[in-house]
Amino acid sequence: MNRITLQNSRTLSQMAYGVWRLSEAEDTSISANLQRIDACLEQGITTFDHADIYGDYRCEALFGEAVKARPSLRDQIEVVTKTDIMLLSEQWPSTRVKHYDTSSAHVLASVDRSLQRIGVDVIDLLLIHRPDPLCDADALGACLDGLVDCGKVRGIGVSNYMPWDLDLLQSRMKHRLQTNQVEVSLLATTPFINGQIAHAQQHRLPVMAWSPLGGGRLHSQAHQAGSAAARLAPRLEQLAKASGTDTTAVAMAWLMHHPVGVMPVMGSNQLARIKSFDQAFSVPMDRQTWYELYELANGHEVP
Ligand SMILES: NC(=O)c1ccc[n+]([C@@H]2O[C@H](COP(=O)([O-])OP(=O)(O)OC[C@H]3O[C@@H](n4cnc5c(N)ncnc54)[C@H](OP(=O)(O)O)[C@@H]3O)[C@@H](O)[C@H]2O)c1
Repeated sequence: MNRITLQNSRTLSQMAYGVWRLSEAEDTSISANLQRIDACLEQGITTFDHADIYGDYRCEALFGEAVKARPSLRDQIEVVTKTDIMLLSEQWPSTRVKHYDTSSAHVLASVDRSLQRIGVDVIDLLLIHRPDPLCDADALGACLDGLVDCGKVRGIGVSNYMPWDLDLLQSRMKHRLQTNQVEVSLLATTPFINGQIAHAQQHRLPVMAWSPLGGGRLHSQAHQAGSAAARLAPRLEQLAKASGTDTTAVAMAWLMHHPVGVMPVMGSNQLARIKSFDQAFSVPMDRQTWYELYELANGHEVP
């Protein structure tokens, strides 16, 4: 498994495993989750992507049960988690409206809750989940720097930020931001042209790709006439057959071919699928194949 080096010299596995859907798995027992984690570790996938809100605030704790059952995991994994979204949830009866909260009080309390739920002493990478229109960048920047300085967090990043959101926050921080996690895939190609990937490349930040299979639509819509997934399916299948892999592997090889350093955050709960994530590294990808898939994804050739 390739390792991606961040600006703070720490490394993450190029593929990460995302736990957003963990609470929806058929089997959420500690042993089933340990099997999922082990299947990742066997391939060198050591980076696990969380958010405080996943599974209505339950997924961090589900993962944490596995960590607490096997404390040696703490030294084998990197933990990414996120903060600022406030859901309408029974867990937060005083919340009247879904909103974002980048106040220091919320961010500090959220980090403490994540540490406790996951059962680790330090978060490797804390991401601000979505840009908050009410953000006080001076206050948030100072709060995030403080979290690094006090050792609760090793690095800070953002998610779903546009270049100007990232520049603003970075201008109020002494520590470098480490990544922008955005939705990018064969079914979400906009970041290649809206500045998110160009800006990340300018600042030498790897891009974490959420929903790299379009949340499963790349497969579930493969027979839906007129969809991007249906346009892509025959060529993905050909390339999978030629490389002895599967269509997920080809789609991930396509993402990882980009020189910015894309880190797909994989979302499957199925052990068999998890075990084959690293097939992506066996798929040859070149410029023309990349464009062939890009054009099928977009439904037209480049101008
Ligand atoms: N920063 C953000 O705002 C943000 C937003 C969303 C997600 N994320 C992160 O990104 C991670 C991944 O997102 P995601 O779960 O949407 O990723 P994804 O890999 O695009 O989609 C995963 C879904 O696709 C299904 N799937 C995978 N392979 C399949 C196949 N061969 N055939 C049919 N279905 C298949 C999976 O079902 P099975 O479980 O049955 O395999 C699962 O439901 C999340 O866990 C989270 O960490 C971040």
